[in-house]
Amino acid sequence: MEEIKITRAQTFKEKPDPSTLVFGKAMTDHMFIVDYDVGQGWHDPRIVPYGPLAIDPAAKVLHYAQEIFEGLKAYRTADGSIQLFRPLDNVRRMNDSAARMSLPQIPEDLALAGITELVKLEQEWVPSAKDTSLYIRPFMVGLDAALGVHSSHHCQYIVIVCPVGAYYPEGLDPVKIYVEDQDVRAVKGGTGMAKTGGNYAASLRAGDRAEANGYSQVLWLDGVHRKYIEEVGSMNVMFKIAGKILTPDLNGSVLPGITRRSCIQLLKDWGYEVEERRISAEELFEAAENGTLEEAWGTGTAAVVSPIGELAMGDKKVTVSNNQIGEITQRLYDALTDIQWGRAEDPHDWIMKL
Ligand code: COI
Repeated sequence: MEEIKITRAQTFKEKPDPSTLVFGKAMTDHMFIVDYDVGQGWHDPRIVPYGPLAIDPAAKVLHYAQEIFEGLKAYRTADGSIQLFRPLDNVRRMNDSAARMSLPQIPEDLALAGITELVKLEQEWVPSAKDTSLYIRPFMVGLDAALGVHSSHHCQYIVIVCPVGAYYPEGLDPVKIYVEDQDVRAVKGGTGMAKTGGNYAASLRAGDRAEANGYSQVLWLDGVHRKYIEEVGSMNVMFKIAGKILTPDLNGSVLPGITRRSCIQLLKDWGYEVEERRISAEELFEAAENGTLEEAWGTGTAAVVSPIGELAMGDKKVTVSNNQIGEITQRLYDALTDIQWGRAEDPHDWIMKL
């Protein structure tokens, strides 16, 4: 792998107060960039001062959304060291997304080095207050400056990082979720399983509607039958119904979440039966009405494990777990965050120490 060239910033930003962190706003002083050109491959990896990118107004990404991204975190442990959670899983998922979006495959060691070298350089930005971390956002864009609809020959992989606290202003208090019955997020054969900006752009209108009605986010239904639950805007979902854990299966239009996979593993370690299958909204509301919907929560890098306290669809509205965090939700949150912050053993080798 080519050596990463580092150009240090001349001025440094003030670090934000950890108690007032807003998710994804306080970018650090540097970013990682590597170029790709057909025929040349990946070249010129570098860390440079954080700042605006010079992009040709005709660049493919600006018109045809040839873009993919990832999200992971660096955690400060009690002894002051820094560690990452399953970073190779993010790199591999990025290459899966790249295959779907006609972007180039990036060698795992290069994608990972872009993350680890940037975090090392920005180590003072990794916060140590409770429940805070450094959010890492790697992304890849197609940059050919031409308006024909073709995939790009020139691309960049970029990594930016920012200190974060809880994703939802509610913190660990349960969030209210609206089951979206008008727009759809993704269909099988589309791009639902890829982490690409277009999926999120398509979600904004429904998200705005939900927020205007007092909901944090929307729960998407499948795009074909408009019946089966898929995922929430920034997280996968899980339910405890009549003692069993249920989560929508990875059917091609659901994002294969790394926190989702980690929670399923922990639940299995604890002896729970986890069913990955189609779950209809009807089944969910019925379970809520007959009292068997015991808990509902979301999982995601940004959202961690977030309790869901209210679900609404059309004129139906149900409260889950008395709008309190449920027992399994709390246990998952504690177990996962204890591993991430180095407070507990790491039996599945998920941690990479820097
Ligand atoms: C993450 O959890 O890292 C995500 O990518 C969700 C994001 C859209 C906020």
